Amino acid sequence: MTDLFSKFDPLIQQREQLLSTGVTDPFNLVMERVESPTVAICNGKRTILLGTYNYMGMTFDPDVIAAGKKALDEFGSGTTGSRVLNGTYGPHKAVEQALKDFYAMDHAMVFSTGYQANLGVISTIAGKEDYIVLDIDSHASIYDGCAMGNAQIVPFRHNDIEALEKRLKRIPEGAGKLVVLEGVYSMMGDVAPLKEMVAVSKANGAMVLVDEAHSMGFIGEHGRGVAEAQGVIDDVDFIIGTFSKSVGTVGGFCVSNHPKFEILRLVCRPYVFTASLPPSVVATAATSIRKLMDSKAKREHLWENSKRLHAGLRQLGFTLGTDEPQSAIIAVIMPDLEKGAAMWEALLNEGLYVNLARPPATPAGMTLLRCSLCALHTDEQVGEILGMFAAAGRATGCIS
Ligand SMILES: Cc1ncc(COP(=O)(O)O)c(C=O)c1O
Repeated sequence: MTDLFSKFDPLIQQREQLLSTGVTDPFNLVMERVESPTVAICNGKRTILLGTYNYMGMTFDPDVIAAGKKALDEFGSGTTGSRVLNGTYGPHKAVEQALKDFYAMDHAMVFSTGYQANLGVISTIAGKEDYIVLDIDSHASIYDGCAMGNAQIVPFRHNDIEALEKRLKRIPEGAGKLVVLEGVYSMMGDVAPLKEMVAVSKANGAMVLVDEAHSMGFIGEHGRGVAEAQGVIDDVDFIIGTFSKSVGTVGGFCVSNHPKFEILRLVCRPYVFTASLPPSVVATAATSIRKLMDSKAKREHLWENSKRLHAGLRQLGFTLGTDEPQSAIIAVIMPDLEKGAAMWEALLNEGLYVNLARPPATPAGMTLLRCSLCALHTDEQVGEILGMFAAAGRATGCIS
């Protein structure tokens, strides 16, 4: 018998080697208690959270929590069914209405996760005969959606407008074309040149899907994302998003003005063949989304946090993923996995949680400490965070 697990041996060895150095397992941390969107108890210690994507700090919002409790009481703990059978309750329609209002779009379809939203929409609209042109650094859910639909995949160099145009021009005349982009790329925290890319896509007869998972709620005048900020939201055919970041719960969605959009509810397998989200979850999401419409002051504070952390880390001597802060994500580039894990652990010991990211999730084989800021991080907390980076960086030899 061939052990089907033997393909994982290299990864098992790499993990064992890392843990044999005595470092805490960076992929097995337990939040023992969560006190707020910015503080948790980990290993019995107060820990500032700087790696949760809880950009707008909605997880402990009193109105959001009250909406969830009310829906739990009124509708029970779960729907036990698909959206197309017994799984559509009032709160599912209410969250879709909240999304339509938030984006000012005609249609909104909610999935159980953002992963499933990409999987479902991409695989359903782009099939075997069609071409998907996508940024090489696209999220795994985008790649999985492409694979599931069996479309021809044409990747192009990250954020390279000319490369996108060249690929589009090579596609046979008359073929179906979908360009898939992200607003903010979550590994490095950089923003896509959507204005140019959407124009190039449209000029070459392609439909455009933009994943705004890391920009919703924060970027753009109304928090609609990078497409809004760059003035091209009306030219984008589909926006994908998630409830697991700024919205502060779980779920995914697609919004669109396409006149035939609603047919997806009958043909999109990751929508049809799975149970719908619990009513308490969609009720929290609807309340959160409506509050995000009116969060200008929070957005401004989040930008200030991002700018201050970026400048402070740079001043300390860390190498960052972007020259300027472009989003609420700041990536600190580590020389290798061992140093990255040591620095991650030293930060945890200081009382700071960040994400350790490593290949294959990262571009160019990099190890990253990914920091995601929250609108509720106080000025004092940002100061504490910089102090912790200074201490951990010196202790591990990452900075001098
Ligand atoms: C760009 C992007 N798209 C989609 C997803 C999936 O979202 P969810 O957590 O809702 O499955 C993520 C989550 O990490 C993401 O970063």
